[in-house]
Amino acid sequence: MSANNIILIGPMGSGKSTIGQLLAQRLNRDFVDSDHYIEAKTGVDIPRIFDIEGEEGFRVRETKALKELTERNNLVLATGGGSVTREENRKMIRAAGFIIFLDTSVNQQLERLKHDKKRPLLQTENPRERLEALLSERKPIYLEMADLRIPTDRKFARKVANEIIPQLPEYLMNS
Ligand code: S3P
Repeated sequence: MSANNIILIGPMGSGKSTIGQLLAQRLNRDFVDSDHYIEAKTGVDIPRIFDIEGEEGFRVRETKALKELTERNNLVLATGGGSVTREENRKMIRAAGFIIFLDTSVNQQLERLKHDKKRPLLQTENPRERLEALLSERKPIYLEMADLRIPTDRKFARKVANEIIPQLPEYLMNS
């Protein structure tokens, strides 16, 4: 079993993809975003998967993707914000490496996602209410899973990556 990955968890708009790519460059690792991986495998984008199969269908694909990705090694892996809601996903993520929670407020999420059309869960009358509900359900899980928690509000991705690097355990730096 591989346990050498760096795994980013946190809500939509926390910067998992951007920060993950920067970390991967700096650490000379491959980067994979689980949503992009699912889209590449399926041949359609996430909104289309939600349209056709509903959230439940998407979650099945997400679990399958995580199964494949957590078997790999030396990755920086950005997970989807809802991936932590299934116990089987949590088990796989925990076993696969070092977990970083990008802690982000709903205000900051709204700011970063205000023009977004790719998050089906935000295509609603009241995105703030939706984000608040999701965060209050998921934040305790993110916190419980995290080996490292990094606040990201009002910070550029590069600054967040610069903050993370010196806090990584030694064994992740030389792999
Ligand atoms: C979701 C987050 C999205 C994507 C899907 C559902 C969620 O990923 O997996 O739209 O449940 O929070 P990001 O966290 O990368 O936006």
